[in-house]
Amino acid sequence: MKTYDCIIIGSGIAAMQLAKHLNTESRVLIITKSKRQASNSYRAQGGIAAAVAKGDNPSIHFTDTIRAGCSFHNEQAVWNLVKNGPPLMEELKNQGFMFDANNFGEVSLGMEGAHSQKRILHCGGDATGKHLMDHLFLTIQSNIELIENQFVYELILHPYTNRCIGVQAKGENGENHSYYCNNVVLAVGGIGGLFTFTSNDSTIAGDGIALAYRAGADIVDMEFIQFHPTLLYVDGKTHGLISEAVRGEGGRLVNASGTPLMDGKHPQKDLAPRHIVAKEIFENRAAGNEVFLDIAMISDFEMKFPTITVLCEASGISLANGKIPVAPGCHFLMGGIAVNSVGQTSIDGLYAIGETAATGVHGANRLASNSLLEGLHYGKKVASHLNGLVNREFGVFSVENKPATNKKLTLPRKEDIQMFLMSKAGIIRTQKELRELKAWLSEYDESIPSLDQYSIEEVQVLFMLQTAKLVTNAALLREESRGAHIREDFPFENEQWKEVHIFQSINGIEMRRRINERHKIKIHA
Ligand code: SIN
Repeated sequence: MKTYDCIIIGSGIAAMQLAKHLNTESRVLIITKSKRQASNSYRAQGGIAAAVAKGDNPSIHFTDTIRAGCSFHNEQAVWNLVKNGPPLMEELKNQGFMFDANNFGEVSLGMEGAHSQKRILHCGGDATGKHLMDHLFLTIQSNIELIENQFVYELILHPYTNRCIGVQAKGENGENHSYYCNNVVLAVGGIGGLFTFTSNDSTIAGDGIALAYRAGADIVDMEFIQFHPTLLYVDGKTHGLISEAVRGEGGRLVNASGTPLMDGKHPQKDLAPRHIVAKEIFENRAAGNEVFLDIAMISDFEMKFPTITVLCEASGISLANGKIPVAPGCHFLMGGIAVNSVGQTSIDGLYAIGETAATGVHGANRLASNSLLEGLHYGKKVASHLNGLVNREFGVFSVENKPATNKKLTLPRKEDIQMFLMSKAGIIRTQKELRELKAWLSEYDESIPSLDQYSIEEVQVLFMLQTAKLVTNAALLREESRGAHIREDFPFENEQWKEVHIFQSINGIEMRRRINERHKIKIHA
């Protein structure tokens, strides 16, 4: 039996930063369901938010984060995040990572929505994610083993202690593998693939949430899903992200006759918090109006935004016209697997980081470019926690197999789940539509005890159904509008919901006041 100190599921920024900072003596395995580059981090166009400018400081970054997320955060976690921004950027520079700089060699800082000042560090213009991921990948050590194209479908729990002791994965030919370890870290991103329109990599569809839920972990705040206002929209489909940095450079949202959309809608106009801009575009499109991003005023567009230029060209959109057609789509999950300050879930031996985890740093709506920072911060922090644990020696586990199930599954098509979620749990929600969605989802049974016999495609759909149910339950229960959760039938924030978080687990649904209070943090010795 091959065993590891740590198994990391996923290959985005949080996963790679964790791998990089784990002790070099640790036996570490990374398993990713596709190629290592298939992550949202790799696609990230926006950069990293950090208070490095003269005249900026972490307190201002803190205030912007809290304001964008409607004060629904774990404030201590936010403070730790923003305070660590400048030292983490320094650390990257010291490793030789080259941020974009101006003619004087100073880091050039970009502007994005809901930031009160220029604070975004980039590398290669809008290709920051790719450069950062390649950098981290090149600097990880030889103690890290990477397996691509294996789909983790089950967490292995110890039959007596209920501790997470490994994972089961399906290989390319459908064969099952078991891997054992001291600690498992889920770092598989969010849930973009549950929606028809998304900026996410096509592989990202809520696997981490479903795996953790099935194992008995607490899941929280699933109603808080950020829709990015500007995805490239051609022929009724979205084709990837048009970064907010474009609006940071002066790009403006306009209708077909060129009238600005955001004037009079919010003091920050085109750079208002994302949920406000996304709602405006959504409502315009729903009323039959086209919406464009006017980029005519941006000089050297192709040089500043090489990724977007390629994206537009590939979709037949000529930048010479100065207008990019846009629509909103699912971008980021603020909720996820409930964790404490060192990424521990409610299951011993199971951790979660990055978008998969709900740390409380994003509140009800994430501030732009705080997510790469989150990945860097928690990757390092969880590594330091795991490095301090005395790992167990592996005994021989007698893992009781769950009773094999091979009943014929009745499953919907992925596209139908995406279409239902987009239309009924998307940017604007109502009780009526959420109830319809719940009724449709309840026609399918995703609670299959053993997944050993099923194909990757079948398990993926089961995971999507599971995650969709968690989103729907939470969106239905929260009868208010707050941040990215917009209920047409409850259009205002309600004081009574101010600090209430909706937790879901296989034991049921519970409302709790603060994200982290229920964790009796047990450090394993
Ligand atoms: C963007 O570039 O607009 C996305 C950045 C982010 O979501 O943080």
